[in-house]
Amino acid sequence: MDIAPLGPGFAAELRGVTLADVAADDAAYAATRALLDEHSVLVFRGQEVTDEVQLAFSRRFGPLEVTKVGSQGTGTNLVILSTIGEDGKVVAPDSRKAMRNKANQLWHTDSTFKRVPALASVLSARIIPAQGGETEYVSTRLAFERLDPALCKRLENSFAWHDYAHSRGQVAPDLASPEERAALPPQCWRMVWKNPVNGRSALYLASHAYAIEGMEKEEGLKLLAELMAAATAPGSSYVHQWRAGDVVMWDNRATMHRGRPWPAQQARLMVRTTISATAADGLESMRPPTQQAAE
Ligand SMILES: [Fe+2]
Repeated sequence: MDIAPLGPGFAAELRGVTLADVAADDAAYAATRALLDEHSVLVFRGQEVTDEVQLAFSRRFGPLEVTKVGSQGTGTNLVILSTIGEDGKVVAPDSRKAMRNKANQLWHTDSTFKRVPALASVLSARIIPAQGGETEYVSTRLAFERLDPALCKRLENSFAWHDYAHSRGQVAPDLASPEERAALPPQCWRMVWKNPVNGRSALYLASHAYAIEGMEKEEGLKLLAELMAAATAPGSSYVHQWRAGDVVMWDNRATMHRGRPWPAQQARLMVRTTISATAADGLESMRPPTQQAAE
C-alpha cells in the first residue's frame, strides 16, 4: 500500500489496494482505517466498483446507514445520487432531483441531522459529466487548529442544533417534504469532535446547523457563518476531479464537503454508502448533557 498526499495538509490517495482487498483482509482493513483517522479523505483510483463491493468494503468500518425517506435508495444501504429520470433522460434543472443537487452544493457534513451521525461516507463514481461535478473537501480539524485558543475552548463546550429542513430551506422553502421533516427532527451535537484514536479535535459544522444552544438566534447564526467561512477559507480545500473507477472515502468527524456544479444537460450518477458513528468513534462525547437535550 502506497500513500500519495493530495490536499493542503489532509487527503491522500491510496495505491496498491482495492476495495475488495479491504473487504476480505483484516490487515488491509486495519491499515485503511488508520489512514482514514490520519488523512480524513482517502482516494482510491481505478476500482471495479459494484454495489456489492462497495457495501462489503463499507461494512468493515461499522454499521451502515439505512437510506432515509425521500432519497433514492430509501430503505437500503445505498444512496443513489442521480440526475437521470425514470425515462432514462436527464431531469429538468427545476426538478426536485436537480434542486437536491443544489442543496448538496452547500458546505456540509453528511448526516449531522440524523439521530446517529456518520463516521464516514464512501462515494463511487458511476456516470461522470464531461465537465464539473467535482467534490470539494476541507479539513475541519485543520480549521479548528487555526482558531484562536480561547474560541477553541469555548467551542469545545458549545452545542449546535442541526436540521435537514434548514439546509434544504436555503435552496427552496419546501424542498424538505413533510415526511422528511417528520422523520428527521432537529439534533444537537457538541461543536467539536475529538478523535479518540489520535486526540485531535475538529469543528463539527454543516449547512444543516441553524442554532447554538444558549445563544440568541441571530448571534448563533452569525457565529456559525463565521466558523463556516473560517473552515472553508481560500486555499484550504482539496477538489476531487472524478474519473471512472474513482472511490472517495471521508471522515465526517473531521471534514466538510460540497458538490460542484456541472452542465445541467449532462448525466451524473454517484452511489454513496454511509457508516454510522459508534462509541469507539467518540460518539458519546458529542451528545449534550441530558438536561440540555431535554429543553
Ligand atoms: Fe454529502
